[in-house]
Amino acid sequence: MKPPSVLIIDDEPLMRLSMIDALKAVGYEVRAAASGQEGLQILNNQDSFDIVITDLRLPGSDGLEILQVCKQYSPRTEVIVITAHGSVETAVEAMKRGAYDYITKPFSMEELLLIVDRVSKVTALRQENIQLREELEGKFSCEGIHGKNHRMREVLEKIKLVSGTDSTVLIIGESGTGKELVANAIHRNSPRRDHALIKVSCAALPETLLEAELFGHEKGAFTGALRQRRGRFELAHKGTLFLDEIGEISPVVQVKLLRVIQERQFERVGGNETVEVDVRLVCATQKDLKKEVQQGRFREDLYYRLNVVPVLLPPLRERREDIMVIAEYMLKTRSSRTSKPLKGFSQSAQELLLRYSFPGNVRELENMVERAVALGRPSEEIQAWDLCGFPSCPYLGGTPQDTCGFCSEGLTGKGHHVAKVDSLSAAREQFERQYILSVLDRVQGSRTEASKILGLSRKSLWEKCKRYGIATGKYGHDEE
Ligand SMILES: Nc1ncnc2c1ncn2[C@@H]1O[C@H](COP(=O)(O)OP(=O)(O)OP(=O)(O)O)[C@@H](O)[C@H]1O
Ligand SMILES: [Mg+2]
Repeated sequence: MKPPSVLIIDDEPLMRLSMIDALKAVGYEVRAAASGQEGLQILNNQDSFDIVITDLRLPGSDGLEILQVCKQYSPRTEVIVITAHGSVETAVEAMKRGAYDYITKPFSMEELLLIVDRVSKVTALRQENIQLREELEGKFSCEGIHGKNHRMREVLEKIKLVSGTDSTVLIIGESGTGKELVANAIHRNSPRRDHALIKVSCAALPETLLEAELFGHEKGAFTGALRQRRGRFELAHKGTLFLDEIGEISPVVQVKLLRVIQERQFERVGGNETVEVDVRLVCATQKDLKKEVQQGRFREDLYYRLNVVPVLLPPLRERREDIMVIAEYMLKTRSSRTSKPLKGFSQSAQELLLRYSFPGNVRELENMVERAVALGRPSEEIQAWDLCGFPSCPYLGGTPQDTCGFCSEGLTGKGHHVAKVDSLSAAREQFERQYILSVLDRVQGSRTEASKILGLSRKSLWEKCKRYGIATGKYGHDEE
């Protein structure tokens, strides 16, 4: 279990250091602030602490204000106040306003540890209670999906409703909008959560391989089929099968899929034995399947079977209020993983993010934040140029790059000049993205042609496009 986290706010250096040492020595996770202002800043920037120990008399703000902020924004945090000898009234006032306990100066570290230990036992118990209650009530959890846009809230509401059922879900959204994340959430919140969630990307495989992948094959079904192999449908028995890029499946596989949905049974490739499965289907598509039906590329009967519960994920540019929410969340998780504390986004970085169109949606934002964490300087704010990553873009004092999203949207402003970051990997990345784009242009977006020219497997090309936020479908047609 995670050790309890404690924030100490005290302006006396010696006192502060003694408390930090004493608490760290018994395993608490400790942060400290030397003024009320700094304390408030930490409270604003970090997930809530289990315990806050604050002096009542502080420069910059007083302990009662800290208490109020904790109670308002993080009710589960317990606050212990430190009072000077002879100022019991303020201590009483603090208790009235919700402090857990107080300790009077001068005190020994043993006394402090006793109180903190008592509080942490109470908070641990409370946490256990909440967890138990949530388990009993089967509470819905949606970790990972962040955002406050009203359409996204509707999406979450829908996921919650549909998770408890076996209905087929069709998730529709541009690349990088979070389709897989939603599929995960549906499975995790469903009664099938203890069984497998099996994922298949229908675009990554040619027809015959996809068929064998989904339905399995018998020994000798085709050259190279040396033994019987179970397909993804069988592996997903009692669980969930996530079929990504469902709009890419061929007519033959469409027929077979329709039959599994209707009859819950199928035969392995090259076999006669009928296999029965109990699988919940979640599908995802970037394409407008209705249009595919109209143009005769997708079976209408299958479309209706898949589109039982449609979940539409809006592109990021249509939910701008989510940009900073997601960016901040990603920054927090990424920088804690690298143990490189970054201070958040500068004004100019925020402006840039809010004005950009994000053709690669949340994935593109994620790449930017990751790049910024790599390029940003510890304990400083992330600047616009950290987000860009193109070695010679105007943000870095160079000329506009037409492969840089910011430049091509005319978002590069003046006054952002700073030392160049000519890292080799950034240069390589820039070249790779540019080259892939130029090849895709040359073959009018055909991924098969492009992968041949580039000497990449279709899967690697697919992954690179994702990584570089190269939107598919941009060329008006998406063959294969
Ligand atoms: N609302 C969100 N909050 C936080 N992270 C998100 C959100 N939406 C997406 N992400 C993150 O963005 C990345 C892309 O999401 P995901 O893979 O689910 O998109 P996708 O729609 O399946 O993309 P593609 O069509 O390219 O397969 C993932 O790392 C995911 O965790
Ligand atoms: Mg996906």
